[in-house]
Amino acid sequence: MNNVVPNHLLKKHQKNILNEKKYNSENLQTLKSSIKKLLKDKNGVLISHYYVDHEIQKLTEETNGCVSDSLQMAKFGQETEADLLVVSGVKFMGETSKILNPEKTVLMPTLEATCSLDLGCPAEEFKKFCDQFPDREVVVYANTSAEVKAMADWVVTSSIALDVVEHLDSLGKKIIWAPDKHLGKYIETKTQADMIMWDASCVVHDEFKFQGLKKMKKLHPEAGILVHPESPMEVIELADAVGSTSQIINASKKLDFKKFIVATDKGIFYQLKKESPEKEFFEAPTAGDGAQCRSCSQCPWMGLNSLENLEKTLIEMKNTINVPEKITLEAQKSLNRMTSF
Ligand code: 13P
Ligand code: SF4
Repeated sequence: MNNVVPNHLLKKHQKNILNEKKYNSENLQTLKSSIKKLLKDKNGVLISHYYVDHEIQKLTEETNGCVSDSLQMAKFGQETEADLLVVSGVKFMGETSKILNPEKTVLMPTLEATCSLDLGCPAEEFKKFCDQFPDREVVVYANTSAEVKAMADWVVTSSIALDVVEHLDSLGKKIIWAPDKHLGKYIETKTQADMIMWDASCVVHDEFKFQGLKKMKKLHPEAGILVHPESPMEVIELADAVGSTSQIINASKKLDFKKFIVATDKGIFYQLKKESPEKEFFEAPTAGDGAQCRSCSQCPWMGLNSLENLEKTLIEMKNTINVPEKITLEAQKSLNRMTSF
């Protein structure tokens, strides 16, 4: 894991991992009942990413909320009649919900949860970069700040990034792509589009390595390989299916393998096992010991979401997401293109 994760969060993250079973059955039921009541009283709904604590995912399902990839999370906020959106994931997901639904209240269990791609693309530097290539279409990944989205012509998630770039390329457009260099490389290879890339990566997916995965495939030659495209290109090349979190889940159901090696955050295993209980899933190997901690296929920021801080947020109505109006209006243009593509 590289050094963008601050030390105090790293300690919390390591504690979470060592203590994965955080709830005993009594406090679990108390917490869940309390959150259910709070949601009902406040006309709220849970919107959660596949990487968060599986108990949050379960509760989201039980309360008819939305557990999904980042694209569907954005769309659900627009479709629901709830006045209060409680987004468990990372900051860009809460901001996207707020920008698309400025009239609704958006809360997050923690405001500390960000993303190495968002951190790796500061708005001021990105503006200077874009100013050098004024003739290019600016396409940014959803894992960016509201300010960066406000500068973009298009926002995409990994579900639609390939299709959007293919579309722009067919119109003869040249592209600035930011921030994920691996996803950018994958799209460039697939589409042959003319792309200039920003240089950032995901601390989780960057850790999946070609040699380790090849060794694991030798141990399980009958297993299919599922890879999120934030992983390095040589890892992607070993995949039987490449795609967003929801595309990985779909592939695990449709492909004719009984076993899978999965190169993405291990939070997704709850859904993989739920959808295909008869199949076996293995974590793809990571790089091993890094500078600050052992890589673990777990996003340190996604891991900050818990039932406890979710309940506290709802009781105190704190951790509200606010985006300045000017930025909201600009970012709405590129985000609306994404949700209606
Ligand atoms: P998805 O859009 O595939 O859910 O990805 C979000 C993400 O942050 C992956 O690391
Ligand atoms: Fe960002 Fe990677 Fe975490 Fe996804 S898994 S939120 S890309 S740091």
